[in-house]
Amino acid sequence: YKLWRLQNQTPIVELILVGFGNGPELQPLLFLLFLVIYLAAVAGNLLIVVLVVADRHLHTPMYYFLANLSAVEICYVSTTLPRLIGSLATGDRTISLQNCYVQFHFCVILSTTQCHLLTAMCIDRYLAICHPLRYPALMNGRVCCHMVAWAWIIAISYSIMLEMLILQLTFCGPKEFDHLVCDFAPTNSFCGESKTLSIGTNYVSIILTLSNFLLSLASYACILISILRIRSSTGRQKAFSTCSSHLIVVSVFNVCIIINYVVPVFRPPPLQYKILSVFYGSLIPLINPVLYSLRNKEVNQALRTTIEKLAAFRH
Ligand SMILES: *[C@@H]1O[C@H](CO)[C@@H](O)[C@H](O)[C@H]1NC(C)=O
Repeated sequence: YKLWRLQNQTPIVELILVGFGNGPELQPLLFLLFLVIYLAAVAGNLLIVVLVVADRHLHTPMYYFLANLSAVEICYVSTTLPRLIGSLATGDRTISLQNCYVQFHFCVILSTTQCHLLTAMCIDRYLAICHPLRYPALMNGRVCCHMVAWAWIIAISYSIMLEMLILQLTFCGPKEFDHLVCDFAPTNSFCGESKTLSIGTNYVSIILTLSNFLLSLASYACILISILRIRSSTGRQKAFSTCSSHLIVVSVFNVCIIINYVVPVFRPPPLQYKILSVFYGSLIPLINPVLYSLRNKEVNQALRTTIEKLAAFRH
């Protein structure tokens, strides 16, 4: 910091997001890959939102949460991937620091909301399976609405807190930012009077992640115990099938988020971290539609009736 002040450099206003580097032979391939991932993620999640809104059978808390999650995923891929795809297409990797901050804040808000929604879904499944008689009273539309609202409120306050910390600091480089997106979590690019930023982000994100993770873990432990207690094997299968897609999503998500938050603490080599963030940023948005549309009978049924309705409409 002192050196930086002594040299009195002009402040950095533009960054170079290194992305996948300079290898020109890979660029078209990566461009295509991410374009396909982006389109598939948007289309798949949009399909879920449309089905849940359109089909009356899916008007339950579980599917409301799912549709909200899908909406968040659409926003998430739309904040990260278009820029990456654009820079793969044009080769122009510069981004203004301001845009980088904006991208970072949207990423923080959306990924935190994602995490809370998944936990809300865990709690919802827990109540449905472990307290089936009280479920309708406990998880009604109003509670569901509150949980969705709180997911956003916590995420937005967290991001405002980060913003206030970042505004006190100076970005002092290096100008080459060796990541795919403007993710400041794994970097040490800030200098300023206080180092509260890294401490603050680390602690808060660890607390947030850990509490969500433990809540999901506890819910699923209870769910598994009560599923194992079911005597009839068909009943057991039925109970298990309603939450298996979600269990897979939650496990993948938790693994990713732990990697995403915990790995930066150990300062991994950039390449490994990049590969991880590709997984995190593009596979999670894809996994939801794939799992729910392939495995879930109700969603399949809703898809079929919607298509039939559309076909009837055309005739
Ligand atoms: C999100 O959840 C709210 C509250 O339950 C619900 O009313 C709304 O329809 C959901 N959003 C979508 C896109 O389904």
